[in-house]
Amino acid sequence: MSRAPESAPPARLDHHALERYETAWLGVAAVMTALLFVGVLASVVSGTSPLLDAGSGHAHDGPIVRGRVDPKNLAATPFAKPGLVVDAAGQPLVNDQGTLDAYLVAGNFTFQPAVLRVPAGVPVTLHVTATDVAHGFQVTGTNINAEILPGHVASLTVTFRHPGEQHAICNEYCGVGHHNMITRFVVESPTQPTTKETK
Ligand code: CUA
Repeated sequence: MSRAPESAPPARLDHHALERYETAWLGVAAVMTALLFVGVLASVVSGTSPLLDAGSGHAHDGPIVRGRVDPKNLAATPFAKPGLVVDAAGQPLVNDQGTLDAYLVAGNFTFQPAVLRVPAGVPVTLHVTATDVAHGFQVTGTNINAEILPGHVASLTVTFRHPGEQHAICNEYCGVGHHNMITRFVVESPTQPTTKETK
């Protein structure tokens, strides 16, 4: 004679039915595990996996390769001169994609440059990297919001429509000076940027 359970299970779910549910869920778990495994393999093969091999390898291709940079060697990259890329006459340079370039460095509880002057109505590609830990980068009044990691370059294109002042803030807690991480965007009335001459 079997021992009566303290609370009887629903009559419909006898132990055979429970086993079928368990088998089905085991199958679901197996499929998810397989997908995760394939995803990790794909990210490693495609080189888009975060923080794998950051800063090493591909050095022969240049200082910034597929969004990677050596955080200890920013001096060899455009990040050495944070700010808008300008020509010898101080005019913003238009790149091959038809946008201006600006380089920003997050680290040590600051963004460099502290003030970035950009023309209104012209698309600007902001390239942002970090020197120490993970930071956030959010530009008020725009949809720019990115995580900034050492060894990685986030490149985001934005057009500031109206002259005025906007701010970039760190929205990811990075330490005791987190709340001080703010940089000023001064959006100026449109000027005519010089187009890169093709020789
Ligand atoms: Cu940098 Cu919070």
